[in-house]
Amino acid sequence: MFASQEKVQGRPIRLIAAACKNMGIGKNGRLPWTLPMEFQYLLDKISSVSRPGKKNLLVWGRICWFSTPENLHPIDNAVNVVLSKTIRCASDLHLAQKALAHPWCDLIYLTDIMADFDCDTFFPGFDRSVYRLQDRFPGVPDECQQECGIRYKFQVFKKELGYR
Ligand SMILES: NC(=O)c1ccc[n+]([C@@H]2O[C@H](COP(=O)([O-])OP(=O)(O)OC[C@H]3O[C@@H](n4cnc5c(N)ncnc54)[C@H](OP(=O)(O)O)[C@@H]3O)[C@@H](O)[C@H]2O)c1
Repeated sequence: MFASQEKVQGRPIRLIAAACKNMGIGKNGRLPWTLPMEFQYLLDKISSVSRPGKKNLLVWGRICWFSTPENLHPIDNAVNVVLSKTIRCASDLHLAQKALAHPWCDLIYLTDIMADFDCDTFFPGFDRSVYRLQDRFPGVPDECQQECGIRYKFQVFKKELGYR
């Protein structure tokens, strides 16, 4: 039993989101902003794999899944799982909260939208001494972006070794 448990390999869990100044991420089931290049960044990240043939397992909340434009699908290199309590009962915790607390979660891609938006959905607070903001991260533009008059910055928070 222990041997088989040891064979189970941790697959990294990554969160990706964009949050405005008050950590808002959504309003009325949609994104509060329209930032096509920022959205393209999300698509690039969720469809990129370490080598051909690999796939990312994308876990979506039901509302988020149904709010994505139909022409988005299929997403390259992705297998999608949509959570709903009508299908599978888990806890009431926000999806992101569950992922953040998971030992296999190592990275948070969190775009900092430097503006105020009226939101009804928020990214959960997380411990920034556990998940540390990276100065630079491979594949992530360093410089501040500007689109539709809104400034934003791609950020990556990495879990410090020792926090599992
Ligand atoms: N800015 C960003 O980066 C970003 C990213 C993602 C989403 N958003 C925005 O955030 C909003 C959606 O987020 P949300 O939190 O309101 O909704 P959501 O997580 O997309 O969907 C919530 C629903 O998903 C199901 N669900 C979630 N966690 C579950 C669990 N642990 N077990 C079983 N079912 C589970 C439940 O469906 P049932 O009701 O069917 O039980 C729940 O009502 C939208 O406005 C979206 O545009 C923004």
